[in-house]
Amino acid sequence: MKRKILQMLHQAGTEEYVSGQELCEKLGVSRTAVWKSIQQLKEAGYVIEAVQNRGYRLMSAPDILSEGEMASWIRTKWLGHDVRYFTEIDSTNTEAKRIAEETQGREGNGLIVVADMQTSGKGRRGRSWSSPHGTGLFFTILLKPDIDPANAPMLTLVKALSVVKGIMEVTNLEPRIKWPNDVVLNGKKIVGILTEMSAQVDYVNHIVVGTGINVHQTEFPEEIAKTATSLDIELKKQGKELQISRAQLLAAILKKFEHYYEIYLQTQDLSVLTEEYNRLLVNCGQKVRVLDPLGEFEGQALGIDTRGELVVETEKGAVKVSSGEVSVRGIYGYV
Ligand code: BTN
Repeated sequence: MKRKILQMLHQAGTEEYVSGQELCEKLGVSRTAVWKSIQQLKEAGYVIEAVQNRGYRLMSAPDILSEGEMASWIRTKWLGHDVRYFTEIDSTNTEAKRIAEETQGREGNGLIVVADMQTSGKGRRGRSWSSPHGTGLFFTILLKPDIDPANAPMLTLVKALSVVKGIMEVTNLEPRIKWPNDVVLNGKKIVGILTEMSAQVDYVNHIVVGTGINVHQTEFPEEIAKTATSLDIELKKQGKELQISRAQLLAAILKKFEHYYEIYLQTQDLSVLTEEYNRLLVNCGQKVRVLDPLGEFEGQALGIDTRGELVVETEKGAVKVSSGEVSVRGIYGYV
């Protein structure tokens, strides 16, 4: 019941009241039962004003990632209807893979694993992902699509696009995609994406798309201090007061991902999304250094093609770079 009340209060926003009568009718419970739930929400840190003859108004919500708080924001058709939340876990990607292996067929498709803290958060190329309590949004989407495994790497790009759009919607900040796995703000990394797949030659068993977003951090471990930033740091720089709700941010990103993923599934490529993606690509038009294990080279990034490969104009002509093999750096620094 608390979950439903929260949902109605969030829906009304911070300006509107929801009448006690309406809550009782929608939930089919007594006024006393509603009042008790409101008290419990207040104890959990929600600031709720109660005014006679008007009802209840949610003035502020604590940034907690409870299942109730997440469910009250999520408005998708199918994605994230099953949320597995952990206050602490080794890695949301690892947990999503464990779940995938325990489930049959398409069961578990669209499930998400969320954690407040990860003890072994994983980054790309065997690196770790700093994941302290209460600071970031760490979550993984489990997918079991019927696609050619060769098309799976594009899901990282679909995710990056969704994350940028979700952050823009909730914060009004203007992050950009750094191909293929990162999202940046003012030249610093704010999001990392790690996609892992279990597949046979022509059949995908499952794909997990994990995302780590720096939200409330005010400082970072020394090794990433120069290249990382958080949403709070960037909001503060702009003199904005916003208190970010990670549950709201999660819900916004899920909604975007559901939309873009369905478009991707129709063609199993990015043909419909290329333009939108390239508009948000920080590398577009930039001089880049391609860190290819077979030999580094420089050129000008022109954008992605319909398969999500980065097209780089070099002295020898246009080269297509695929995301699995290489990283890209700006020639003057990280971006
Ligand atoms: C990178 O930039 O190297 C990718 C970082 C991905 C981190 C996220 S946090 C949630 C999910 N669980 C993990 O263990 N890793 C991903």
